[in-house]
Amino acid sequence: MKTVYSIDEVQAFINEAKATGKTIGFVPTMGNLHDGHLSLIHKAREKTDIVIASIYVNPLQFGANEDLESYPKTLAEDQAQLKEQAVDLLFAPSSNEIYPHGMEHHTSVAVVHLSNLHCGKSRPSHFTGVATIVCKLFNIVQPDVAVFGEKDFQQLAVIRSMVNDLCMPVKIVGAPIARNSEGLALSSRNGYLTRQELAIAPALNQMLENAKQEVLSGRPYDHILRDGIARLAQAGFKPDYLDICNRETLLPATQQDKSLVILAAAYLGKARLIDNIQVDIN
Ligand code: PAJ
Repeated sequence: MKTVYSIDEVQAFINEAKATGKTIGFVPTMGNLHDGHLSLIHKAREKTDIVIASIYVNPLQFGANEDLESYPKTLAEDQAQLKEQAVDLLFAPSSNEIYPHGMEHHTSVAVVHLSNLHCGKSRPSHFTGVATIVCKLFNIVQPDVAVFGEKDFQQLAVIRSMVNDLCMPVKIVGAPIARNSEGLALSSRNGYLTRQELAIAPALNQMLENAKQEVLSGRPYDHILRDGIARLAQAGFKPDYLDICNRETLLPATQQDKSLVILAAAYLGKARLIDNIQVDIN
C-alpha cells in the first residue's frame, strides 16, 4: 500500500486507475483505526476494484473547546492495519495541503436542514466542517462509491443529503455499527475513557436497546425519552440528548412514522459518546 500526502499524487493514482476502467471505493477517516473503520474498508472492497482510505483530522469540524489537539494520532499503526486489509492507497494530507489559505477564508458546504438538529445543537459548526471536508475529499479522490458508518447516523444523513442536493456523482453506502462484546460502539474517543468509565459506557447501548423495545411495545415516546435520560444520568453519564426520529428526515417521529432511529449522545468523563439504534414498526 502506498501512502501519499499531496492532492497531485492522489490524482495521478486515480487517473491511472480510471484509464484502465477500474472503479474506486473511498473510506474517509480521521485515523486511530479500529474494527469499525476496517468494516468500512471491507464493504468498499466488496463493491469496487480499488480502495482508497484517507486519514485527516479535520480542524474545521472541531469546536473551539473540543478535542482537536488531543485527538489520537497513530499513523504508523493505521498504515499497518490498512496494509493488512490490502487497501490500495492511503491519502494522509497535512492541513497545509487541504487548507492552503488557512481556516478563515474558505468556501463551505452547509447542509442546512440537518446540521442544526441533535449533535448540531451542541456542536454548531460541526456538520458544516464535515460536509466541507467530505466534499473536498470527494473532489480529490473522485470515488464511484464512498462508505460511511451508521455509528455517525446524522453525519451519514448529512452526506447523503449533500450528495443528492449537489448532484455529486458518488454512491453513498452505509455500514452497520461495529461494537465490542459488551455492546459499546467502537470509537476512537473510547480511548479517553478510564477503566471505570469503560465499565459504565455499554449502558448507553443498553438504554437504546431498552428504548427500542418500549417503542415496539407502544409506550408513549415522551415517557421513553424521559426515562432513557434518567437512566443515563443514573449510570454516570451527563446526557446531551436522546431523540426518537424519523429515519429519513431525523425530525421527531410521529405515530405515523414506521422507520425510526433513536439517536443519543452523552458525556462520560472526557468523552462525548454517541450511539443509535434503528427501529422498524410493522
Ligand atoms: P472517523 O470518526 O474516523 O470515522 C470514519 C468513518 O468510520 C465514519 O464513516 C464513521 O461513521 C465510521 N465509524 C466509526 N466508528 C464506527 C463503528 N463503531 N462502526 C461502524 N463505523 C464506524 O467520521 C469521521 O471520522 C469524520 O467526520 C470524517 C467523515 C472522516 C470527515 O472528517
